[in-house]
Amino acid sequence: MTDTQPTKFDAAHFDSKARQWDENPLFQARGQKIAQAIRQAVPLHKHMNALDYGCGTGLLSFPLKDELGAILLADSSSGMLEVVAEKIVAQGVTRMTPVKLDLLTDPPPAQRFDLIVTAMTLHHVPDTDHILRIFHDLLQPGGYLCIADLDQEDGSFHGPEVDVHHGFDQADLGRRAAQAGFADAQFQTVFSIAKENENGTRDYPVFLMTARRAGA
Ligand SMILES: C[S@@+](CC[C@H](N)C(=O)[O-])C[C@H]1O[C@@H](n2cnc3c(N)ncnc32)[C@H](O)[C@@H]1O
Repeated sequence: MTDTQPTKFDAAHFDSKARQWDENPLFQARGQKIAQAIRQAVPLHKHMNALDYGCGTGLLSFPLKDELGAILLADSSSGMLEVVAEKIVAQGVTRMTPVKLDLLTDPPPAQRFDLIVTAMTLHHVPDTDHILRIFHDLLQPGGYLCIADLDQEDGSFHGPEVDVHHGFDQADLGRRAAQAGFADAQFQTVFSIAKENENGTRDYPVFLMTARRAGA
């Protein structure tokens, strides 16, 4: 018996990682690859109003900023948002706005979006069906949802002490998206994360799901 309880990676955990986040070349490459796949899957344009949910330091939406209109960068970690705010100022960006937001506990923003992107965040959100319904309600009819996250794995990605989803089965997530009101869910593998463990190196694929809110 052990009295060690699984922990969630809460906002304090990400606060403590924020200052070093952009020093990780894997995180940079992952953001670039996901952005490239979104570019190819979605007809982006400069009037698109976008939400990056669980934005971290903005490694997904900074590469897309010149192809979109306004971008709301939402995260529950103040530390991540401080870094985002500094990058916005340093790069002289005018249409990106950071906001502290946990959609499972805070009131949703009043505005509606043409595009919601979220990278490596869904596995930290306990109730997948709930967040999919919230994303649906935040999108304009015909708006696009782009979710990048881990394929289903055995829990070794974060380790047994961390209480998160062990990635996602693509077919199951596609069904849940359809139940939440999304159409045309498409999946592709866009990146792979190599991690060392006692048995050597293991690859964890990252998918991109693109889907549209029905009723365009
Ligand atoms: C693994 S990081 C990914 C950050 C960024 N999207 C990237 O790809 O570099 C997960 C992010 O989700 C945020 N997050 C976790 N749970 C959240 C929630 N319920 N609401 C908003 N943000 C959340 C964390 O603070 C963290 O910044």
